[in-house]
Amino acid sequence: MNQDELKALVGQAALQYVVPGQIVGVGTGSTVNKFIEALASMKDQIKGAVSSSEASTARLKALGIPVFDSNEVAELAVYIDGADEINGQGHMVKGGGAALTREKIVAAQSKVFVCIADESKLVSVLGAFPLPVEVIPMSSARIMAQFAQMGGQAQVRLKDGQPLATDNGQYILDVKGLQIKDPVAFEAQVSQWPGVVTVGVFAYQKAHVCLLGTSAGVKTLKF
Ligand code: 5RP
Repeated sequence: MNQDELKALVGQAALQYVVPGQIVGVGTGSTVNKFIEALASMKDQIKGAVSSSEASTARLKALGIPVFDSNEVAELAVYIDGADEINGQGHMVKGGGAALTREKIVAAQSKVFVCIADESKLVSVLGAFPLPVEVIPMSSARIMAQFAQMGGQAQVRLKDGQPLATDNGQYILDVKGLQIKDPVAFEAQVSQWPGVVTVGVFAYQKAHVCLLGTSAGVKTLKF
């Protein structure tokens, strides 16, 4: 099976976690796009979705799935999202699709985080994937220097030669060269640097379950 097929497999498998009659939290990315396609088959059984990005919102609406503002919903039973990396404790690196801030917000209002990923995403130590960090533009140089002191090399993410603007109008730094051995401490430390909106380490909002697409089928990891 190729990567695309593995993503479709876990996107479909995630339907078992969607609670009929409720609103489901929906992440962002190519794996989640497969989940959204699969969710269309259940659209008459759910109230709708809270979305983590403009891109997912557009896809949900195009399929006729109502999208609620996160402020309208006190708690979600489940949040389904992908990851750029996940370790054996359910800690993740996220933000490859620049949606990390809203992803963390929706994850925080959800009781259960179900990560859907192909097997290439499972790692022992987080950090090989360049770490996305959403920052206020005027703080980017200082934050890049702080990462350099940790041994990381940060770059502003570009689109068409210009800094990419997130859905929240901020910048993304991608930080290479980190080995994140203590994700909980790392997330706590970087989150309090002035100008950091969201660090792409999800240790506080970690996955409870990971549906991992492998050539032998879907493997369920519980954390
Ligand atoms: C978007 C994310 C995605 O979940 C992550 O980048 C994985 O994406 P994909 O399923 O396309 O590999 O965090 O901000």
